Amino acid sequence: MSRLADRIALITGAASGIGLATARRFAAEGATVLLADRDADRLAAAHAALGEDRHQAIRLDVTDEAGWIAVADRIATDFGRLDILVNNAGFGTFRSIADTSLDQWRSILAVNLDSVFLATKYMLPPLAASGRGAIVNMSSIRGIVAGPNTGSYCAAKGAVRMFTKATALECAALGNGVRANSIHPGHIATPLSAPAYADPEVARHLLADVPMGRIGEADEIADAILFLASDESRYMTGGELVVDGGTTAQ
Ligand SMILES: NC(=O)c1ccc[n+]([C@@H]2O[C@H](COP(=O)([O-])OP(=O)(O)OC[C@H]3O[C@@H](n4cnc5c(N)ncnc54)[C@H](O)[C@@H]3O)[C@@H](O)[C@H]2O)c1
Repeated sequence: MSRLADRIALITGAASGIGLATARRFAAEGATVLLADRDADRLAAAHAALGEDRHQAIRLDVTDEAGWIAVADRIATDFGRLDILVNNAGFGTFRSIADTSLDQWRSILAVNLDSVFLATKYMLPPLAASGRGAIVNMSSIRGIVAGPNTGSYCAAKGAVRMFTKATALECAALGNGVRANSIHPGHIATPLSAPAYADPEVARHLLADVPMGRIGEADEIADAILFLASDESRYMTGGELVVDGGTTAQ
């Protein structure tokens, strides 16, 4: 259990769901985890649950540029480098394009996409200082195949996928040792998805979409993120890892 020994890892959206599962997994593998989230109460609980002094909780709205600059300063002071960045914070809504206001569109794009740009811009210097930096960007199967009533979310997650590839090529050209890959979960049980699964009709519809016949678990995505963050994926950059029980294979 030391695949991330001596690594400093920043995870956004770490107070819940996939981000929290990833924080637990990274901590168990020896990483020092910087948990970032905008939800102060759940962040404090998540930090306490890790139960070791080396981890840090960082209150951050991932859409706030000044917040990212402050995080960069803190990392420079405390560590002088960052080894792993997991851009996980995000959310989606089920809404037709006709019913989506411009503010709602911008909000989905800001949290899912602008955040990844800001994080990459301000975390690249400490990631380069690591010499073995790894970025894992949270996309979705909705970044590869579309669904109805998810237009803003599909647009954001598709853009995350392409921005990840552009980041990978830029870093390879710079020779800074930073790899960037995207991850594409299918239907995963988390607080984000719980309201949808609570509707039996929606749950039946989603399950019919999964050849393996079950909804995935946050730990199953955390395991895949661990692979992309660790040296086991050292020849992988600009790639995309689909973890969806076979949904997009159909
Ligand atoms: N659950 C799924 O089925 C599924 C499938 C594919 C992709 N995803 C993606 O996985 C990621 C995590 O989703 P989850 O299901 O674990 O959700 P979740 O709601 O359980 O957790 C998301 C976390 O992000 C935080 N967050 C939201 N907006 C933020 C902001 N502006 N600044 C800082 N923190 C913010 C929330 O406070 C929360 O702690 C999201 O990007 C989501 O789009 C989820």
